[in-house]
Amino acid sequence: MLPWNDRAGKLSALKLIVFLGVLAPGLWIAVQAATGTLGSKPITSAIHQSGDWAVRFLLLSLLVTPLRHVADWPKLIAVRRMVGVAAAAYAAFHLAFYVVEQAFNLQKVASEIVLRFYLTIGFVGLLGLIALAATSTDAMIRRLGSARWNRLHLLTYPIAFIAIWHFFLQTKLDVSEPVLMLGFFVWLMGFRLMRRYGFAVGPLQLTALAIISAVATALLEALWYATMTGVMASRILYANLDVAFGIRPALWVGLAGLALVAVNLVRMWGRSRERSGAPRGRRAAVAAAE
Ligand code: HEM
Repeated sequence: MLPWNDRAGKLSALKLIVFLGVLAPGLWIAVQAATGTLGSKPITSAIHQSGDWAVRFLLLSLLVTPLRHVADWPKLIAVRRMVGVAAAAYAAFHLAFYVVEQAFNLQKVASEIVLRFYLTIGFVGLLGLIALAATSTDAMIRRLGSARWNRLHLLTYPIAFIAIWHFFLQTKLDVSEPVLMLGFFVWLMGFRLMRRYGFAVGPLQLTALAIISAVATALLEALWYATMTGVMASRILYANLDVAFGIRPALWVGLAGLALVAVNLVRMWGRSRERSGAPRGRRAAVAAAE
């Protein structure tokens, strides 16, 4: 079955757009490689770019379920598998680029993975992603049964955490991007906890989640710098209030959370208009002409 077709075998615009979206960063890396614009260390740059996209797609795959509820868009589930498999594929390319960087010396690659903790956890994350991708087919879901399949795919959460940890550990000084990813992860987990404990997903709850995630991001960032570099936590926290040097990750997390509140409000407004029978689109034009 073609990745952009729906279950009935018809072209799905949503699936096609997402397919092109997950392909785009890979094509961009290939274009940079072909045109010699990957920088002075092309393989290292390819390792970094593929790693970044592996984490981003992993978190986007975790966003599908919340977005289905927030935007009241059940069809979105059709693209979750594609985004998750894309994360696994980028992670596999990431390892392949690392093997190229090590001049195909597999013994060296293996010993580095065993000796360097950040590579060891990266390897565990990659194995997990490959296991999830391999069991994501309809045939595997049928074989495992949905209860066991769901239990297995709960592994996505620890794998995402491990990937972000690997991201932190390999970063030399400025951990802004891993902090941002951690902040989004906090929001994604917070959303799941909210639903698990029976909270409704409405604008108020989502606003509270956005604020809590932003504050947690700021605290986690300060904790990281304080423990790893000795910089005073209060100075890092204060930097969040000063946007002169750019927006800090905690603020981005809060803004992204509030953007989802806006999506939810628009969707609720649309639904209430539908319920009150307000004419829409073509019906509205026909009603106006009459
Ligand atoms: C065997 C598994 C893996 C190996 C050998 C590996 C290796 C590496 C290496 C060598 C770097 C660059 C370090 C540096 O330049 O100092 C890196 C960075 C990174 N890796 Fe991995 N990695 C693995 C798995 C993963 C997985 C599973 C993910 C995500 C799902 C991931 C995401 C990242 C990210 C986001 C970066 C940082 C990129 C950046 O700084 O822009 N890695 N990894």
